[in-house]
Amino acid sequence: MITVHVPLGDRSYDVFVGHGARRELAALLPTTAKRAAIVTQAGIPVRVELGIPSETFVIGDGEHHKSLATIETLCRGFAGMGLTRNDVVIGVGGGMVTDVAGFAASVWHRGIPVVHVSTTLLGMVDAAIGGKTGVNLEAVDGVGGKNLVGAYWQPSGVICDLDALSTLSSRELRCGRGEMAKYHFLTGDDLLAMAEPERIARCVQIKAEVVAGDEREGGRRALLNYGHTLAHALEIETEYEIAHGEAVGVGLIYAAHLARRLGRIGDARVQQHYDVVEGAYELDGSLPPGLHPQQLVRLMGLDKKVLDGGLTFVLDSDRGVEVVKGVSPEAALAALADMG
Ligand SMILES: NC(=O)c1ccc[n+]([C@@H]2O[C@H](COP(=O)([O-])OP(=O)(O)OC[C@H]3O[C@@H](n4cnc5c(N)ncnc54)[C@H](O)[C@@H]3O)[C@@H](O)[C@H]2O)c1
Repeated sequence: MITVHVPLGDRSYDVFVGHGARRELAALLPTTAKRAAIVTQAGIPVRVELGIPSETFVIGDGEHHKSLATIETLCRGFAGMGLTRNDVVIGVGGGMVTDVAGFAASVWHRGIPVVHVSTTLLGMVDAAIGGKTGVNLEAVDGVGGKNLVGAYWQPSGVICDLDALSTLSSRELRCGRGEMAKYHFLTGDDLLAMAEPERIARCVQIKAEVVAGDEREGGRRALLNYGHTLAHALEIETEYEIAHGEAVGVGLIYAAHLARRLGRIGDARVQQHYDVVEGAYELDGSLPPGLHPQQLVRLMGLDKKVLDGGLTFVLDSDRGVEVVKGVSPEAALAALADMG
């Protein structure tokens, strides 16, 4: 078992990473908790032992259910079981479940403890760590969007039980590998030299370090969006046919080409991006066919993470990855062409 500490003052917590880690769950529960509300989905074959009475709430699968309506249903369930501020919510699932369970916990009685049992690779290395919670706002008259309603609400602990990965579909595993690939370029570590448990734990630790330095995304946390500027544009332009993690794989290759075009890195570093994304993680780093480059550049200019006037990217250099503002549309377009 590997323990990663997330140092956030009085909101600090531990993440347990390893095969069978869910058996350590009881150790992460607040000592005051007399009852637990478990939030999960029907297709998730992960059961947890808490040692205290609990009720299980099964939420729907898919982004459509990541909604305020689901939060209301959960809160009615919490009311029905008499869940108090001293009790605990347990999210057992991927990023969707932990985002929803975390947000429900953040608003129930103005905030009660939540513990996440992450069951997807993407959840383990990303969504369950760092305290961003929330739901989508369903579009009405064209107004709405993903993750628009939410709160920063740190969990009291996180379990990453690697046994859960054995039942994940190959597509969900690919999505997680896209996010994992990004971590290879955020530090100088040789993540490929590590065995899987150590590598996942190191990704958790890198995220923990970034979050600890910038909990509410005022600066450094933006580096976690490495590869995401093109990825978001690809998701929109393919109407989400390309999954997020798959799009991040393409986005990382693009970010390398753009950095080379701007003279920030050389050919060898671009090749390292291919070695990680396509070699190690077996993701397709090429642009999906049939997309209009001009349209992708336009969408990249609208990316909400970087809305600051003009094109902003997270780009590599020999000092590491940095936020780079004011990239010209011509360079952005030329780097798309460089991908071949
Ligand atoms: N809060 C954050 O910082 C953050 C970061 C990244 C992504 N997210 C959010 O995470 C969500 C995506 O998360 P995800 O990729 O984990 O997808 P997901 O939670 O939608 O899960 C994908 C599918 O896998 C199933 N599943 C989960 N665990 C399983 C298991 N062990 N075995 C078999 N099936 C299992 C789920 O039921 C679902 O059908 C998005 O809503 C995204 O916005 C949040």
